[in-house]
Amino acid sequence: MTTPLAKGLFLTFEGIDGSGKSTQCRLLAEALQAQGRDVVLTREPGGSKGAEEIRSLVLEGDPDRWSAETELLLFTAARRDHLERTIEPALAAGKVVICDRFADSTRMYQGLSRGDLRATVDKLHKLMITREPDLTLLIDMDPEVGLSRAKGRQTSEERFEDFGIELQQKMRAGFLALAQEFAPRFRVIDGNRPVDTVAAEVLATAQAALS
Ligand code: ADP
Ligand code: TYD
Repeated sequence: MTTPLAKGLFLTFEGIDGSGKSTQCRLLAEALQAQGRDVVLTREPGGSKGAEEIRSLVLEGDPDRWSAETELLLFTAARRDHLERTIEPALAAGKVVICDRFADSTRMYQGLSRGDLRATVDKLHKLMITREPDLTLLIDMDPEVGLSRAKGRQTSEERFEDFGIELQQKMRAGFLALAQEFAPRFRVIDGNRPVDTVAAEVLATAQAALS
C-alpha cells in the first residue's frame, strides 16, 4: 500500500547534460516506492502528451532552429501543460513528484545561454507558472565528463549538446550561482562519484525533506 502525504512533495533534479539526473531520478523513485511512497516520475520538457510533442520541436534539429525568445515560449507552453495535467493533480493527491529538470533549466538555458534573457524568463514564470519545487537537487559535474557521457547516448535529441563545451561550462557555473540565489530549496550533490554513492546521498537528502 502507498502512503499519501498530507500535501505532496515536489522534487526536481537539475544540472548540465550528462550529469546523471535521469539515472538518479529513476533510482530515487524506485527507492521511495520501495518504502511505500506514492511517486510520480516525470521530466521536462515533456511529462504530458502536449508537452512531449513540444519536446521534439525543441530538442531535435539544427541548433539555430529557434531563437532564445521563441524557445522560451515553447518551453513555457510545455511546462504550463505539464503543470496543469500532471504535476498539480499529483501534488493535490499527496504524491511525491520527481521531475527531471524544471524552471531552473529555463533560467539557465534560455535566461543565460545566448545573451541575458533572465528578466524575461522571470516575468513569464511569474505570469504563467509560479510553482517552485520544495527541493531541488543539483547534480554538479565536470562539463567535459558530462558532455562525453551525454554524447555517448547517441540520440536524436542533441540540439543543446551541439552548442558545445563552452555552453556546458557556462551552465555549470550558472547552476552553482542559482543554487546560492535559491539556497533554501537547493542542495548541491557531487556527481563525479559512482552511481550508488550519489544515489545514497540523494535518498538521504530527499528523506530529510520528507520527514
Ligand atoms: P542526464 O539525465 O543528466 O543527462 P544520465 O542519467 O542520462 O544524465 O546519464 C548520462 C550517462 O552517464 C548515462 O549513460 C549513464 O548511464 C551514465 N552515468 C550516470 N551517472 C553516472 C555516474 N555516477 N558515473 C558514471 N556514469 C554515469
Ligand atoms: P534533457 O532531456 O534533460 O537532457 P539531458 O538528459 O541531456 O540533460 O533536456 C534536454 C535539453 O533541454 C537540455 O540540454 C536542457 C534543455 N532545456 C532547456 O533549454 N530549457 C528548459 O526549460 C528545459 C526543461 C530543458
